[in-house]
Amino acid sequence: MVKKIEHLEMVGITKRFPGVLSNNNVNIQIKTGEVLAILGENGAGKTTLMNILYGLYKPDAGKILLNGKQVSINSPKEAIALGIGMVHQHFMLVPTLTVCENVILGLSKSFIVDIKTATQRIREITDTYGLAINPDAYVWQLSVGEQQRVEIIKALYRGANLLILDEPTAVLTPQESKELIQLLRNMSAQGNSIIIISHKLHEVMSLSDRVTVLRDGEVCADVCTRETSQDALAQLMVGREMAPCQREGTFSPGKAVLELQEVYSQGDKGTEALTGVSLTIREGEILGIAGVSGNGQKELAEVIAGLRKLSKGKISLNGKESTKMSPANIIEQGLGYIPEDRLRVGTIPSFSIWENLILKDHHQRPFAKHLLLQNRVIMSHSSSLVEKYGIKTPTLETPTSSLSGGNIQRVILAREITRSPVALVAAYPTRGLDIGATEYLHSKLLEARSNGIGVLLISEDLEELMSLCDNIAVLYEGRVMKVIPVEEANERVLGLLMAGIAEQAS
Ligand SMILES: Nc1ncnc2c1ncn2[C@@H]1O[C@H](COP(=O)(O)OP(=O)(O)OP(=O)(O)O)[C@@H](O)[C@H]1O
Ligand SMILES: [Mg+2]
Repeated sequence: MVKKIEHLEMVGITKRFPGVLSNNNVNIQIKTGEVLAILGENGAGKTTLMNILYGLYKPDAGKILLNGKQVSINSPKEAIALGIGMVHQHFMLVPTLTVCENVILGLSKSFIVDIKTATQRIREITDTYGLAINPDAYVWQLSVGEQQRVEIIKALYRGANLLILDEPTAVLTPQESKELIQLLRNMSAQGNSIIIISHKLHEVMSLSDRVTVLRDGEVCADVCTRETSQDALAQLMVGREMAPCQREGTFSPGKAVLELQEVYSQGDKGTEALTGVSLTIREGEILGIAGVSGNGQKELAEVIAGLRKLSKGKISLNGKESTKMSPANIIEQGLGYIPEDRLRVGTIPSFSIWENLILKDHHQRPFAKHLLLQNRVIMSHSSSLVEKYGIKTPTLETPTSSLSGGNIQRVILAREITRSPVALVAAYPTRGLDIGATEYLHSKLLEARSNGIGVLLISEDLEELMSLCDNIAVLYEGRVMKVIPVEEANERVLGLLMAGIAEQAS
């Protein structure tokens, strides 16, 4: 039987990676029923610290005390045995198995015998915490939010009473995020402890009891949530005051750079994901795509980038039909693309930073001459991007996979924006970015707009859309409900359109 965690402490934790001091003498503590938020800029050392607690990394120095006694945690298995569970940002579920099968995977030797008892226990867990899920559903049928619930159930099933969540809401819709926050509240009310990493300060304010802020691998503040504010936390994290970006200058769009006419396309599950989408993006325009994710956004971005086939319709890029072009041709034709799935689509993880930064242009001048790579040019180009975009890395040779989540994101942004595309498709570009980087990205999108680039910005953050876009199109069940000029947009109108209600939204 797993022991109840009354009090857990990490003391003097230090962890070095080649060229990086990721955690430097870090102390954190948490009590039963408490929610501790860990805040910090991209690369501050948050994930590293939690991976140490979960037994994935061994610290170079420091100790972990559980209920006052020192413990050593050398693997996730040992962490779980002590009552510590972790939900990673990238889920580790098997899509072709059911919820129940996934939950007991790795635990039992005789799969079939256990299903009935397991289903029963899963029902108990879901009832206790108000977690809606069908144990018999296949994981591939579930939304991202539901898959996350399966990960949480998996941890609870194994007896976790301290749950670590690394940026759990980054991939959720606003509605799913609200549900998760409520669930975590229920869990802490019933005596579970929760450690949550998040870049969303309003969530941290509404959920946590205490906040530990990391900066460059060190604890720079440890405060009671009640005694602080969103602004104070932001300042602690970045060490300066933040000012939100606003769209400036008049809107004077040029010619169309990206046009979709009556585009139809199928989703992964074989159903129609886009049903007759027509959109025009012009030079110097930011067109926003609002909508609850899962209404065709992913497919929309992919058909434009040539990664998904159209079943009907036509797309033109920079005056040329691109419907049947290869992804490489589309890039040549002038498309910049910040994909939703940055790990698999946006970068080659084992490649170095510099290789990923020139990934799309390595074969041409100024990076290659007569088939020879121009090292000096490449290195100076790469190091200037690393500096401008604040990419935290020990060297340019470092493999991209060893960067922190937000820093991988910055590598893609740096590459896509500086390539000066004709049109730029940005799918949820601020996901996983800290607040400083978000602000920087916003300024970069506005700069792209003033340089005449046509930007398609897919986002679930209505505030972000309303402050950056010239026009906002609302996507609902694979079709465009309406395109409205930003002056006419407000949360009510957008909300109604996002729910598929057109009549009252005028
Ligand atoms: N396996 C690894 N190998 C080498 N360096 C690593 C490894 N894991 C983390 N690092 C480095 O440690 C530092 C902290 O990374 P970490 O992932 O903990 O940051 P984070 O605070 O979680 O950032 P983010 O908000 O971007 O997720 C980074 O500079 C990163 O490059
Ligand atoms: Mg992280």
